[in-house]
Amino acid sequence: MAFAKKSLFVVLAVFLLSHLGCEAQVQLPANVWSELAVADISAEDVWAIYSSPGLPRLIVELMPFRFQRIDVLSGDGTQGTILNITLQPTNSGPLTWHEQFVEINHRTRTKVVRQINGGFLNIGFTLYENIFQIRKTGRNSCVIRATNNFIILQGSESGASFITASWRMAYAVVDYIRANRANNYLASKTDSQ
Ligand SMILES: *[C@@H]1O[C@H](CO)[C@@H](O)[C@H](O)[C@H]1NC(C)=O
Repeated sequence: MAFAKKSLFVVLAVFLLSHLGCEAQVQLPANVWSELAVADISAEDVWAIYSSPGLPRLIVELMPFRFQRIDVLSGDGTQGTILNITLQPTNSGPLTWHEQFVEINHRTRTKVVRQINGGFLNIGFTLYENIFQIRKTGRNSCVIRATNNFIILQGSESGASFITASWRMAYAVVDYIRANRANNYLASKTDSQ
């Protein structure tokens, strides 16, 4: 009787373990971040671009080597907006996905953009999001932090090789603001002459 009970328990345990082994895949969370210190532009001015409803259109113009097109699937560029992203075929890693502006917080100057369909979710990721945070460091200076949060299912770790810390978007936005200022300065000089 005791033996029968014990072997039943062992069989049950083996069944549960093998079952769990298949069902509960191991999730591997990680993140990568980059920071760009900007010495001549205020946090407010940088945030105005990052939070702008027009950013999806602008960023295709500023980074033509990265983006082929960005279509708005729903929303008006504010929190909740869903975009269809298509990268240029010369990029490595996933080339197309849907992403959502899940948070645009004007108080903390934080924008969270999460892939919700396709992209990294098709190659063994259960989470892939970019968080942009603009931190004030002075009246006319700030730090642009870009964090990439992701969770990979065990067995799909090779997908992580597509992820690198990148300052590209921060550089593009900063260059755009500086160029705009120079243009405005020239325009105002021309006006006053
Ligand atoms: C998203 O873009 C891709 C590639 O440009 C296109 O094939 C697809 O139909 C688009 N999806 C939607 C829902 O518009």
